[in-house]
Amino acid sequence: MQTTRVVPLEEGKDPAPTSRTNQSRALPLRLIQLFGMFLVLCIAFWFISVYTIRHFGVQSVVTSVKSTFQPCFDQENNLDLWIKPPSNLMHKMSDKELLWRATLVPRIKKYPFRRVPKIAFMFLTKGPLPLGPIWDKFFKGHEGLYSIYVHSLPTFEAKFPPNSVFYNRQIPSQISEWGKMSMCDAERRLLANALLDISNEWFILLSESCIPLYNFSVIYHYIMKSRHSFTGAFDDPGPFGRGRYNENMAPEVNITQWRKGSQWFEVNRKLAVNIVEDTKYYPKFKEFCKPACYVDEHYFPTMLSIEASHLLANRSLTWVDWSRGGAHPATFGRADITEEFFKRVYGGQHCTYNNQPFSVCSLFARKFAPSALDPLMNLSSKPYRFSLFDDDNEFFGSCRKRYDFYMYRGIDCNTDVASYSNFFTKPTTALAVGICCSVAVAGYVAQMSVLLCNVWP
Ligand SMILES: *[C@@H]1O[C@H](CO)[C@@H](O)[C@H](O)[C@H]1NC(C)=O
Ligand SMILES: *[C@@H]1O[C@H](CO)[C@@H](O)[C@H](O)[C@H]1NC(C)=O
Ligand SMILES: *[C@@H]1O[C@H](CO)[C@@H](O)[C@H](O)[C@H]1NC(C)=O
Ligand SMILES: *[C@@H]1O[C@H](CO)[C@@H](O)[C@H](O)[C@H]1NC(C)=O
Repeated sequence: MQTTRVVPLEEGKDPAPTSRTNQSRALPLRLIQLFGMFLVLCIAFWFISVYTIRHFGVQSVVTSVKSTFQPCFDQENNLDLWIKPPSNLMHKMSDKELLWRATLVPRIKKYPFRRVPKIAFMFLTKGPLPLGPIWDKFFKGHEGLYSIYVHSLPTFEAKFPPNSVFYNRQIPSQISEWGKMSMCDAERRLLANALLDISNEWFILLSESCIPLYNFSVIYHYIMKSRHSFTGAFDDPGPFGRGRYNENMAPEVNITQWRKGSQWFEVNRKLAVNIVEDTKYYPKFKEFCKPACYVDEHYFPTMLSIEASHLLANRSLTWVDWSRGGAHPATFGRADITEEFFKRVYGGQHCTYNNQPFSVCSLFARKFAPSALDPLMNLSSKPYRFSLFDDDNEFFGSCRKRYDFYMYRGIDCNTDVASYSNFFTKPTTALAVGICCSVAVAGYVAQMSVLLCNVWP
């Protein structure tokens, strides 16, 4: 990366001396030769560092990811005993016990072990997950970077095959109704269960009708590199916003603090604890936000905006289509899954990401009917030009045009984003690249001054 900067610098300055005398014409040649040597050295350094990192750095990350998944209780590493997530998600804790347990937070910020942060995907469902095969495919090969939690109606008996990512990922559930506090209770229950795994760093709420819009690497990095959590929160002055505010909520919440936002949130671990530990706002919302005040659209957005507005992106990651009007967003079935449809979903996105204008705004989309499964699974085949899973995603054209242009600028698009960002954040690589480039620059400056001394009388 750095070397390419040096080359045009040299080329740009070259013509001046060559137009001079015969004697000085030999000099640029020598200069180029010498610089070529530095360049070769630089490239050699670069390759060595790539090799070392590939071999030792990334490899050790991968093995440590795997090893956290097969901890052995017989070993003398006693810490595992205290921090290992429960292998069986079904427990007998009451909500009160669970929420209390989930708010135990370590006070020493540095972990005494290698912690690979995971994304907790929390599925709030009625029952079955008809789009499950899409998620199976989505998660494949990324074990150790995610965990899954499913909250369904208590009467639903899950029968996921053992090779499904949803197998044994059900948490103890209770009835939850849209627009009522029981919905927020279910979301807090999901968060609390996910908090029990100390590796979970980000928490995403999804439903059975959601699909991912990008592959796992893109989504993981988008969330990891973000300075904000993605929770929708805006001040709507109309009857469906401020109109739902009840003055009895003061002084905890006054009307200027009242926010509205989509239920489908993404929060980091700190905000997840904020939500689970809340006893200040909860009673107010429970008592004074009942239909037609839909509490799941107001409680978390308002509470988080008061407590930690600087950590919020104020937008959701989940794309949804309200253009058909009515009380519910559009549901898409078999016939809707066309290339035009996805052009609409991906195109025309505008938002800010880390305070920069950005065109990748939604990482997930809803709502999709079970009949959409087949055509969605087929997306990687012709005639669709885009795919949710494949390496070469023609729809995006060059990656510079899309998600790449701020986040991964300068990184080869065909290579897995994950290994690259690992690679560039290694201090050893940075040092190697830094040293070889400073050597090259120093050499260039020295050559230049010799040259100038010679041609100047
Ligand atoms: C609402 O609370 C904010 C912050 O505490 C305060 O500045 C503002 O005056 C309050 N507004 C009303 C209408 O009470
Ligand atoms: C989100 O909104 C709050 C006000 O509620 C504001 O302080 C914050 O800066 C906003 N976040 C971003 C990323 O703009
Ligand atoms: C999906 O692809 C398979 C094989 O290519 C084909 O048989 C099937 O009809 C396709 N289904 C849809 C809904 O396009
Ligand atoms: C994920 O998608 C991006 C963009 O389409 C692509 O460049 C990258 O290679 C993909 N990663 C994997 C592991 O498929």
